[in-house]
Amino acid sequence: MSNATRPPGFQGYHRTRIAQEDAELTHVGPGTPCGEYLRRYWQPVAMTEELGALPRVVRILGEDLVLFRDGSGRPGLLHRHCAHRGASLEYGIVAERGIVCCYHGWHYDIDGTILRAGSEPPESPVCRNVVQGAYPVHEHHGLLFAYFGPPEELPPFPVFDSERMPDTTRKPFSLTTPCNWLQIYENTQDPIHVLHLHARSSGVQFGAASGIDQVIEYRDTPLGMINIQTRPVDDRVWVRTVDSILPNANQTGAIWEEAEAPKTFQRCAMLRWMVPVDDTATRTIGWRFFSPRLDLRGQDDPEQVGRESIDFVGQSEGERPYEERQRQPGDYEAQVSQRPIAIHDLEHRASSDAGVARLRRLLRRRIRALAAGEPVPQPDPFGLDAVPTYCQDTVFRWPESDRPVGEDLRAAGRRVADAVLGSDRLAPEQREAHLRETVGGSGKTAL
Ligand code: FES
Ligand SMILES: [Fe+2]
Repeated sequence: MSNATRPPGFQGYHRTRIAQEDAELTHVGPGTPCGEYLRRYWQPVAMTEELGALPRVVRILGEDLVLFRDGSGRPGLLHRHCAHRGASLEYGIVAERGIVCCYHGWHYDIDGTILRAGSEPPESPVCRNVVQGAYPVHEHHGLLFAYFGPPEELPPFPVFDSERMPDTTRKPFSLTTPCNWLQIYENTQDPIHVLHLHARSSGVQFGAASGIDQVIEYRDTPLGMINIQTRPVDDRVWVRTVDSILPNANQTGAIWEEAEAPKTFQRCAMLRWMVPVDDTATRTIGWRFFSPRLDLRGQDDPEQVGRESIDFVGQSEGERPYEERQRQPGDYEAQVSQRPIAIHDLEHRASSDAGVARLRRLLRRRIRALAAGEPVPQPDPFGLDAVPTYCQDTVFRWPESDRPVGEDLRAAGRRVADAVLGSDRLAPEQREAHLRETVGGSGKTAL
């Protein structure tokens, strides 16, 4: 671009506009459109290991809550402040059934109903009229999930096919980030950042192959959307698809994938939910998956995976000194520095932001549909024993003589994505076979 075609520089003085937050997508408190939408889905709220003998304060979707396990082993999630006169139930006494407020002994069951109102007689109208705010909790593989929506619309608890991967173990983890949930979530549909942030700006932070410039496309799925990243790696083509499971879950492939060997439909290394604590803090909670298939070079480290910790760089403030984070920033630095709530109105989105724009559009559409009284779609297992998902890596050989270029890569990515999407009613083994057949049967891209 010649200087004559550029706008004049030194324009800081003129940047005086006060822009509004995109409240429809970023504000999550009770009664907000996005908060209502997120409340229609099961959300992880804590790791099982965090729940000891004492009640635990948690803040989710802008609500102050107390999580506890009663004497009969049932997890409860109640509004923090007692319905009587507001003392915090974090000081409550855990009972065989429910919890007793420390101040005047009001005793609540895990559904918030009063079992005994302290010194009030059992026939007191208090017992008939008062109920503490409470949410249903479901414990699943080391995580505690809660449902914050209308109780009469309680959805089935979804189990995803990635949880059924053979020869795979999993470990729960959580990471807290001081910024709005959407900047963390939409990062997963911003694959160009992998090239810039994780390969060029900071040196190679994940697999070296992820630093190869990729062809990127996007597709809607029954669960939300995927991005399709297609890269040439020596004589091979690597096609990665990354899931956004609406409203706020994500699946990503092997962290250090190098696409060294052909493979078909290798599944994901992580299933995680970006759960708003409130408008300006997020807790990412999920599982890291481990299997030899996902980690050919032995770089995964389950020891580092847990509470506020994960085995790859750039995910929290405490993991490295500030100067190092300045020299080699990671996702945490990029996302948090977009402001506590990124202001969409001040952005200058470009062609490489197509995935972010698409994800925001999908979310906005669902939020508006719910506000208009339409039901929200829940993850559908289509009659299978788990909800099919769309995250995978496929690597195949490309004839040496004929190196893939732009359109070849685009076509290869589409072929894999079509097969991944078109096989979602099949059992996992059949789905892998279908993919192998489809990709292998396409002439040039023989496995
Ligand atoms: S404030 Fe809880 S019983 Fe009185
Ligand atoms: Fe990243």
